[in-house]
Amino acid sequence: MKREPISYQTISVVPLTPTIGAEVFGIDLSQPLSDVQFEEVHRAWMEHQVIFFRDQKLTIEQHIAFGRRFGELHVHPMASLPGYPEVIEIKADENTGYVQGERWHSDVTCAEKPPAGSILYMHKIPENGGGDTLFSSMYLAYETLSEPIKKLIENFTAIHDGEDAYRVRQNIQRESYPRAEHPVVRTHPVTGRKALFVNRSYTLRIPQLSERESRAVLDMLIEHAELDVMKCRFKWQNGSIAMWDNRCAMHQAIPDYFPLARYAQRVTLAGDKPF
Ligand code: SIN
Repeated sequence: MKREPISYQTISVVPLTPTIGAEVFGIDLSQPLSDVQFEEVHRAWMEHQVIFFRDQKLTIEQHIAFGRRFGELHVHPMASLPGYPEVIEIKADENTGYVQGERWHSDVTCAEKPPAGSILYMHKIPENGGGDTLFSSMYLAYETLSEPIKKLIENFTAIHDGEDAYRVRQNIQRESYPRAEHPVVRTHPVTGRKALFVNRSYTLRIPQLSERESRAVLDMLIEHAELDVMKCRFKWQNGSIAMWDNRCAMHQAIPDYFPLARYAQRVTLAGDKPF
């Protein structure tokens, strides 16, 4: 679907690809946003699914305040920064033993109400210049499925489970892990557009199908959503911020720097039950 270009008064917005991702210039996110600035940033976010800002300098409190401008914040079920339950550290170095988010996912889809969005602030890029993040449009992933497949999956749900992501990969030991059932195709509550809503990290199975059928359909959908044509790639600098919409985009952190150090912190926006 071709959409008219949007004009902005307070910011400039430069798309990274025709489908997903845009850099936003002309705004200092450490300061409270005016109503017009807020409305324009929100509009750019809805249009491009993930937006990027450069050369920002935020304290933890300013990062939280920017997130709160968009609504209630999500508290991660597994890990928070001590003293700041709404903030998680995305940290990898020789001591952590793994890179968070290196498999395609949208955040915490194992929750009953997965987060609407996430705001990641980079404060230490790796010395080799690696550690880019890829984003994939789940609108385009849905729209480019053939009509028979759209019809097949329209009433399917999927079980999303946190155990593999948290116990197996991050070695977080708990008695139980979050698990939830969501539609395979969701409708974005703001834009009204349909998006595919399955991912490699959390989606376990489609309960309407046998185990074997479920695996085959999920593999096909997930591989489709990870095709290059759905993606943009962001190269971080210290002070960069990415703000993505988990309802219509997935992401993957490229671990091509590990075990060099890469440190960022994330504030996550609360979401609704997908429909
Ligand atoms: C995440 O999944 O929040 C991490 C993304 C990244 O580190 O680039």
